[in-house]
Amino acid sequence: MKRWTLILTVFIALMVGMAMNLPVGQAESGQETTAIYVLEAVKAMRTVYAAAVIEKAKQDGVMPKENWAKEDHAIMLPAQFVKAVGREVRNFELGLLGIHPLYKSNKPQTGREKEMLDLLAKGNKKVVTFSDGKQFKGMSADFAILQGCADCHNTHANATKKDWKIGDFMGAIIFRMPDQNF
Ligand code: HEC
Repeated sequence: MKRWTLILTVFIALMVGMAMNLPVGQAESGQETTAIYVLEAVKAMRTVYAAAVIEKAKQDGVMPKENWAKEDHAIMLPAQFVKAVGREVRNFELGLLGIHPLYKSNKPQTGREKEMLDLLAKGNKKVVTFSDGKQFKGMSADFAILQGCADCHNTHANATKKDWKIGDFMGAIIFRMPDQNF
């Protein structure tokens, strides 16, 4: 398990470092840049985790499983990886939102988040940033890029939608931080 812990720690350090060095200005454009950079970094981390870590682990007989902590030869799912990183960060929040989420915690938390998720669903934009109460937020669209995304979501015990297919818009990665203008 040590190898995964190390990789995880390096990624968290990288991301927090990035967020702190960025121009978190009073102007909305500074916040926008921050949100876009963090989302970009989180997406990259998830890709590396899904494409490199999980793929290598599978070759060694270690599978990504939701109940990974309790099962032998199992590691966390990409979505759990993003949420786990989110729990480690201090000055901002990271998470996932779904249009048909498996868990309540992945539902939009405010009317504005729901509105922005609907906007992303229309497909004209891949990333949106916006003020929402005392927070500034960014969302990056998430699509079922692999058949595996659709299969697992279709067969999950909590699934309310069971006909996901490749290419479908599923939700977004969300970044929330205190709005500097408050
Ligand atoms: C082996 C099963 C599995 C695979 C493969 C999988 N997911 Fe998930 N996904 C889950 C589970 C379980 C959750 C809820 C995790 C949580 O919130 O703790 C989740 C959460 C999500 C969420 C948040 C909304 C929700 O449904 O709760 C999105 C968006 C998402 N996954 C997209 C994807 C995409 C895109 C892929 C493929 C690149 C993918 N998933 C692959 C099981 C899977």
